[in-house]
Amino acid sequence: MSVHIQNSRMTTTRLRKMKQEGEKIAMLTSYDFTLTRLLDEAGIEMILVGDSASNIVCGNRYTLPITIEEMIFLTKGVVRAAEHALVVIDMPFGSYQVSEEQAVSNALKMMKESGADAVKLEGGEEILPAIRHMVQAGVPVMGHLGLTPQSVNQLGGYGLRGKGEAEAEKLLNDAKLLDEAGCFAIVLEKIPAELAKRVTEAVSCPTIGIGAGNVTDGQVLVLHDMLGLNEGFKPKFLRQFAQLGEDVKNAVSNYIAAVKDSSFPNQEESY
Ligand code: KIV
Repeated sequence: MSVHIQNSRMTTTRLRKMKQEGEKIAMLTSYDFTLTRLLDEAGIEMILVGDSASNIVCGNRYTLPITIEEMIFLTKGVVRAAEHALVVIDMPFGSYQVSEEQAVSNALKMMKESGADAVKLEGGEEILPAIRHMVQAGVPVMGHLGLTPQSVNQLGGYGLRGKGEAEAEKLLNDAKLLDEAGCFAIVLEKIPAELAKRVTEAVSCPTIGIGAGNVTDGQVLVLHDMLGLNEGFKPKFLRQFAQLGEDVKNAVSNYIAAVKDSSFPNQEESY
């Protein structure tokens, strides 16, 4: 008896083909089962369990404190819900910078224990040996250049990156190195659109932009930001596709009022 398994899951090969055919790639972050199921049903192609979970889920000021174990815990729920999207897990600060051996062994652990399809890590030339080792070990790696939030203490803030010719050349060179090392995609965060265009044309793997204009091969946003749940956060690059913060507050105050005046639960809602 032959068993036919239909593979409707997104793959790194299909992503590369989408770039070649000029089809844009849509990616969002997600951190739990319930929202991931909605994203997946809506047809999202890639999901990033970003270390932005440190801010969004845990309430930390920076992405730095989140641990490997916390990332694995969150990613397991995402993986259970994602039937079609390719799931990428962010490697936390400190989990890949010490040595190539440390990077490979943490990447393998994170993939095996979370079920994610790929890992993402921040940086260029300085982490190239680690990326090469991971790719050799069979780990699909997504790069991340431009604004790299794990370096906030070194770079002193979240400003635009790749300004000026020297910075732009360095970023372009880093992107080429990541591409040659075998990254299946590269996130470009908060850089001028003109530089994002140069990078996108120079590399064979898809580029995924956030605050990098519409010239990249795809886009990524933090889910809670684009849903309007993170109400005070409105940088120039962000479009809020919904105002769920308002909706949640309205629903909760309606609920409170209904509890207080005993109109909830009514007869139909009671046994
Ligand atoms: O952690 C994250 O959410 C990210 C995206 C902003 C790309 O790295």
